[in-house]
Amino acid sequence: MSASRSVSDAVASRRSIRRFLPEPVDPAVLRGVLKMAQNAPSGGNVQPWHAHVLTGEPLARLFDAVAAVLPQGRAAHAPEYAVYPPELSGRYAERRSGVGEAMYAALNIAREDKIGRLVQFAANFRAFEAPVLMLVHMPRTMGPPQWSDTGMWLQTVMLLLREAGLDSCAQEAWAIYQRQIRAVVPIPDDHVFFCGLAIGHRDAEAPINRFAVARAPLDEVVTWVGFA
Ligand SMILES: Cc1cc2nc3c(=O)[nH]c(=O)nc-3n(C[C@H](O)[C@H](O)[C@H](O)COP(=O)(O)O)c2cc1C
Repeated sequence: MSASRSVSDAVASRRSIRRFLPEPVDPAVLRGVLKMAQNAPSGGNVQPWHAHVLTGEPLARLFDAVAAVLPQGRAAHAPEYAVYPPELSGRYAERRSGVGEAMYAALNIAREDKIGRLVQFAANFRAFEAPVLMLVHMPRTMGPPQWSDTGMWLQTVMLLLREAGLDSCAQEAWAIYQRQIRAVVPIPDDHVFFCGLAIGHRDAEAPINRFAVARAPLDEVVTWVGFA
């Protein structure tokens, strides 16, 4: 997809890409993006984020390591944090299931097709065929404000990737296989693994990259105080 020429265009053209083309990513471009993203803000300028960026053989080894435990199902899951709060309900739960249903509808995978849904979920663990996967982690001592900082950095990376003509998908799904990740890359024991970021070029024709993702109306999330 063409490169973004403005922040608004980068925001509007970014979407979570779940099918990538087999086109390599220029490491110099990636380095430039990550260098620029170091300008992201953080409370107290703490800059809590860390990342390992994988491609080629090490990435293939990670895919293999996870593929080996996929048949074990939940028994192999070992996330270090709750990816969603257990009490997620109401509009938040509806939005979560809504995007899933929209995605499966775009792929013609019916609600009762549990295998089809599992296969699509498993595509997470090949980074949707992206040639690059960034693995994000931070010291365990960091609290909610620093997790937020890491999120801001991640969004900065995602928007800069659009400016560079690249696409991405943030992937918390990798958190459930942090043990397999640690067997491949030396994430320090005193760091918590947060998420992956699949990076590459979007397949613009793939239905999974084209379905509409609903957003809440502005008035549902913003309350104006003191304005005329
Ligand atoms: C931190 C984070 C983690 C995410 N993890 C996953 C994931 O594991 N798998 C996936 O398919 N999408 C994942 N997503 C993508 C969200 O589902 C997506 O951002 C949301 O539905 C809005 O759609 P959009 O990004 O296409 O605008 C993640 C997004 C964020 C910000």
